[in-house]
Amino acid sequence: MSRKGKMMKLYDLKVNHLTNPLGFRMESTTFSWKVKEAQGKKQTAARVQVALDETLTQTLFDSGWDETASSLAYPVTLNLQPRTRYYWTVSVQSDAGETAEGETQWFETAKMSEEWAGKWITCDNSEPRLPFFTKKIIPAKEVKSARLYISGLGLYEAYFDGEKIGNEFLTPYSNDYDEWVQYQTYDMTELLKKQGTLSVLLGNGWYKGRFGFSAREEKGFFGDEWKLIAELRIVYADGSEEVIGTDESWKVTRSKITWATLYDGEVRDDTLQPLPEETAVLCDAPKGVLTARMSLPVTIHETFAPVELIHTPAGETVLDMGQEFAGIFKFKVHEPAGTKIHIQTGEILQQGNFYNDNLRTAKSEYIYISDGTEQEIIPRFTYYGYRYVKIEGVMDLRKEDFVGLALYSDITDKGTMHTGHELVNQLISNTRWGLKGNFVDVPTDCPQRDERMGWTGDAQVFSPTATYLEDTYAFYAKYLYDMAQEQKSLGGKVPDVVPSVGVTSCACVWGDASCIIPWNLYQFYGDKQILKDQFESMKSWVDYVTSVDGDNHGWRYVFHYGDWLALDNPSGKKDAVLGGTDEEFIANVYYAASAQLVSKAAAVLGYEEEEKKYAELSERQFAEVKREYYSQTGRCCIKTQTALILTLKYGLSDNVEYTRKTLRRLFEENEYKLKTGFVGTPLMCNVLSENGMEDIAWKLLLNEEYPGWLHEIKLGATTVWERWNSVEDDGSISSTGMNSLNHYSYGSIVEWMFRFAVGIQLPKTPGFQSIRIAPSLNWHLGEMEAAYDSPAGTYKTAWKLVDPTHVELSVEVPFGCSAQLVLPMAKEETFADNQNPMFAHVKDGVCYLEPGKYAVSYETAESLKMVYSSNTSIRDLFANPQVKAALANVMPLDMIPMQYASYSMRELGEKFGQGMSEEQLKGIDQMLSQF
Ligand code: BGC
Repeated sequence: MSRKGKMMKLYDLKVNHLTNPLGFRMESTTFSWKVKEAQGKKQTAARVQVALDETLTQTLFDSGWDETASSLAYPVTLNLQPRTRYYWTVSVQSDAGETAEGETQWFETAKMSEEWAGKWITCDNSEPRLPFFTKKIIPAKEVKSARLYISGLGLYEAYFDGEKIGNEFLTPYSNDYDEWVQYQTYDMTELLKKQGTLSVLLGNGWYKGRFGFSAREEKGFFGDEWKLIAELRIVYADGSEEVIGTDESWKVTRSKITWATLYDGEVRDDTLQPLPEETAVLCDAPKGVLTARMSLPVTIHETFAPVELIHTPAGETVLDMGQEFAGIFKFKVHEPAGTKIHIQTGEILQQGNFYNDNLRTAKSEYIYISDGTEQEIIPRFTYYGYRYVKIEGVMDLRKEDFVGLALYSDITDKGTMHTGHELVNQLISNTRWGLKGNFVDVPTDCPQRDERMGWTGDAQVFSPTATYLEDTYAFYAKYLYDMAQEQKSLGGKVPDVVPSVGVTSCACVWGDASCIIPWNLYQFYGDKQILKDQFESMKSWVDYVTSVDGDNHGWRYVFHYGDWLALDNPSGKKDAVLGGTDEEFIANVYYAASAQLVSKAAAVLGYEEEEKKYAELSERQFAEVKREYYSQTGRCCIKTQTALILTLKYGLSDNVEYTRKTLRRLFEENEYKLKTGFVGTPLMCNVLSENGMEDIAWKLLLNEEYPGWLHEIKLGATTVWERWNSVEDDGSISSTGMNSLNHYSYGSIVEWMFRFAVGIQLPKTPGFQSIRIAPSLNWHLGEMEAAYDSPAGTYKTAWKLVDPTHVELSVEVPFGCSAQLVLPMAKEETFADNQNPMFAHVKDGVCYLEPGKYAVSYETAESLKMVYSSNTSIRDLFANPQVKAALANVMPLDMIPMQYASYSMRELGEKFGQGMSEEQLKGIDQMLSQF
């Protein structure tokens, strides 16, 4: 394979995992980069330079050629100054003698600890029309640069002469406003080439709108007053500076928006007449400290044209967007003056009609009263989780006039995966859309009902999947910082939702997000900074649990969600929310596991004392679990899928083989169907694969009957449901109390697909520079390919079954990385092909690969296609729904005693006499041979 003509290139140059950040909080600076298209295999040295100018001459830091520099994370200590732009780059030398320099990057600090020239201002808060705060800006001289530092509560949007400044929505974003209030920085240099009016529209949102579970929700949890602070700093060409801050000289006019909350939507009345201009008044600062932003920008990404205009049986006009997503819309309207247009959103139709009862109290609407002119309406201070839109009040609705706009945090796609199975492809898409719809600044549970909150448990279980799919470091770093802020006033307790908005309850698995998410990020990114930043939060959570646990296992006895929404609740009720695995057991296991993570994090950070202390605590707690829940021979006293999955994951039984066997039997007895909830499901297939039960993992994934992922898809899901039975087989929604069709938690199966199906496994040492690639082949999929642009570079894997015994497989290992490839089902002679560079280094059936592209085609040791006959076990026959259906045509299936499911038809006949005649068996063989 020729590598000539390739030029080494650097890409993904980031500081604190951000690209050219303007005005972000910067307590430390860590650089990272990636290399592609090199002739060489690895970096031999790198040089990082930081300067005050773009040509990098006013140097502040120069590492020189550093042979130890890690491309994953290169921390540099800089004495950063406020409002300063820094330029930086990195150069890399490879072992083939190449040198490449990255494009110059920058980052710009915000105000840091500097005083604000602007003051907090407000207006008459008894007038419901949302206020515009305005100020005429007349630049005195030629403008060299201009920055706007601004925050507005509840939400704000800034404009210059009517033009929106920046492209963000829902600023200043959501966090614990009692602890910190984010401000953003905008570059206004271009806009200030002319004079104009700076105006800021304030909305309600998370700060002062109806939001959360609190009794104070109607007023707003954090405050009930609009507040604005801004500071415009203009630097003129002659070097002089002008600072315009918010104060009593700002004017207030009123918008035509009379109502806006996140859950309910907006009301805009264009027939309203202007009100007399008011003057801004000074007000108290909010409780939280003004802090430079950590939130990624929330912007418009995909746009959707309606796929269908539906006239429903109930006489409604409904648009189907074809995909459930979170966001807003733009809608062109031109109706006679005074016309009221009512727009509502929903996730599903019922009996062909519009439906939104499952949004509970969220009105999720937009009301517009026309002044007779043509307008394009765009909601400003709300968002919707929707697929269907009901529109009333438009005379002659045209599909083309409505466009759905997906809103979510600016994340970048990192992992893509495609298979030969349409339903599985749809599952991947549903999971990504579940992610996008729930990455609106906070990792939320759902984007549509009166909840949309940062449920810690949901975030925790989905974080590995999210990180295979998208670049999540900065997104989670903000969430985790906020979590730590919440813990401060709660004695280390991690509230069930972050921001808590008054919720003070906590639970195992949910609160353990404080330990598990930072640890996951460290595994993926190999950057210790996240552990350093979160160490106090991790530790104080475990300390909190210890304090509740006391001398008598107190932690077990407080309320825990446990295996939330699992299907094995002993009551057998369909709408039960608790699972069948004792919550006390789960609580104790996670206590021990989190203590272990604190110890491991301490080890990474060199905190010896804590490493020891939490290792001891963890060992003690694991020992407690073993003593309480396991017999002397290693039998787990809780016989549920989830309990045994946890047993294997955490090595809780001394009899691993017995546990595996029992777990296999549990799945067999349940016809390879899951019963798991929020705890068991995300771990299930990973644990099965790690314990040699990949066959069950595949069956669970590919099961098209209830309950399962593909079953949802067959019922029309375009995102992942909250419950396995969110929608019944007849298309009716199963309940309205707690039933969202866009909850990403169960999308966590995608982690297994990346790790074990296409085989891009998690790294043994953090950062993906060395991984094991071990794909698993499956005839029903036929083929599978994935690319993962990991923090260390892009891995690619693809396999294709050309026939049941012949596979074509290719992998790509990025620069600076190595992989240990396990060829699935390869015979020994496959490795004898010494022409193929894949086999240059083989040991015990593992190919040790250096960077490069590899491909191989080989015969598998066994056929991947199941061959069915009268010798196949009943269980295997029944595991294939088509086979089962075909058998049902020729015999009554309930005659077959399922306790003998491991017998074949032939064996059953022999065992119990009165079996089928040889002729009948041959007929069955003939019929089964077509599958
Ligand atoms: C949320 C969740 C959450 C759960 C915990 C629900 O209301 O939507 O997904 O984790 O409550 O009880």
